[in-house]
Amino acid sequence: MNQTHVVILAAGQGTRMKSALPKVLHEIVGKPMIAHVIRTAATLTPNTVSLVIGHKAELVRSALAHLPNVRFAVQEPQLGTAHALQQVEPLLRGQSGTLVLLSGDVPLLTGETLRSLVATHVSAGAAATVVTAAVDRPYGYGRIVREEGRIARIVEERDASSTERQLHEINSGIYAFDLDPLFDALRGIASQNAQGEFYLTDLIGIYRQRGLPVETLQLEGFHEIRGINSRAELAEVSRVVRQTKNEELMAAGVTLIDPATTYIDPDVEIAADTVIHPGVVIQGRSRVGSGCVIQPHVRIVDSQIADRVAINSFCLIVGAQVATGASVGPFAHLRPETVVGESAKVGNFVELKKTTLGAGAKVSHLSYLGDTTLGANANVGAGTITCNYDGQRKHATVIEDDAFIGSDTQLIAPVRVGKGAYVGTGTTVREDVPAGALAVSAGKQRNIDGWVERKRSATVKK
Ligand code: UD1
Ligand code: CA
Repeated sequence: MNQTHVVILAAGQGTRMKSALPKVLHEIVGKPMIAHVIRTAATLTPNTVSLVIGHKAELVRSALAHLPNVRFAVQEPQLGTAHALQQVEPLLRGQSGTLVLLSGDVPLLTGETLRSLVATHVSAGAAATVVTAAVDRPYGYGRIVREEGRIARIVEERDASSTERQLHEINSGIYAFDLDPLFDALRGIASQNAQGEFYLTDLIGIYRQRGLPVETLQLEGFHEIRGINSRAELAEVSRVVRQTKNEELMAAGVTLIDPATTYIDPDVEIAADTVIHPGVVIQGRSRVGSGCVIQPHVRIVDSQIADRVAINSFCLIVGAQVATGASVGPFAHLRPETVVGESAKVGNFVELKKTTLGAGAKVSHLSYLGDTTLGANANVGAGTITCNYDGQRKHATVIEDDAFIGSDTQLIAPVRVGKGAYVGTGTTVREDVPAGALAVSAGKQRNIDGWVERKRSATVKK
């Protein structure tokens, strides 16, 4: 079987980004752009994937350390794209088959295009196949020079004559190569050009002169092979990725009131008949069920929202689970490991951390619960706080089913409120409350008659 080896060039600095971060680590919808390229490459199920790194190599390597099966070659110094490709020779010694070359800064490329590149290349028995596109504004790209219809060479913008600059067919920087002649031929490339670099694009002219077959795969559109060289292009490509995701969701039955201001990461799943209002951001590995309504300006990260859930405006939900029929917000903060039970209610200005709410439980106003288990149908009044941290360790609070916690209560953990118990308003709960009991800690109220009048006349006399 024909082997396939993917190589991704990512050693350049990306000067035009004007950044301390290497260009390929700049993020597109929550992932470094290089991770998008690696993910697309993986759809070819290649025998190997190698990355050429150089500028801030250790930063790039550690950002990708979680990806298995990616091998690294370091290019130091960075002397051009041909020199970059030479660095993987030791990794691929003795291999034959097809080398697919990708660029770390071309993240919109699809798996389908890669498959047709390999198919075109293999069926033509080519030594090299170049992915090209005819574009309206070719400025900045290498141009494809054809003779009698066949590709003859590639000329870079800076080295092109004024007639060559008129050419509209550009080099995408994506290629397939037959491994056999490749590394010997790369040694024949010189650096006599405007940038004094070893240009991989020179290989095409060299192959044609030697009579080796070179093919092209000309794409219909340009958008897939857009390279990112500046922050403006980063924003533009990110917008395209978001738009694609939003269109998929709408086609699958999700209502987006204003797709232009709705930011949904590619891995997010949303079921039909959910309505998403403007300014909503859903990120990471989040899932939202059907029939939910997510009001304006909500951010959800790595969370699971079941069916028919209402999320009101201005909530931040991170690493949480919300069960069917529950309602959250406005202005609620659900922190990691929080579980909101079926038909439970979390109201405004409520923060929950590592807290489980039973079915039908309510925390409606101005409360903080941390490391807490709240039973079914329990009710927590306004301004309730679990004091879960003693300065050194976190402690748990358990409030059993049907318990009622009066407003302005502090629960000093570890503490337990038994089933159906009541806690009076303004209580500081330091000891467990038995099931069915009432706990009160506030002293008896005193009213001092005429106090206001006496105070006022004392002030006037001074
Ligand atoms: C390159 C092509 C150009 C093509 C364009 C498509 C060359 C000489 N030119 O130009 O024909 O139209 O891509 O986007 O190949 N890199 C290294 N080491 C280096 C230099 C670059 O790893 O020494 C990497 C970069 O990190 C980047 C890729 O190679 O991922 C392309 O380099 P870049 O400098 O962006 O090339 P372009 O000028 O865009
Ligand atoms: Ca580029």
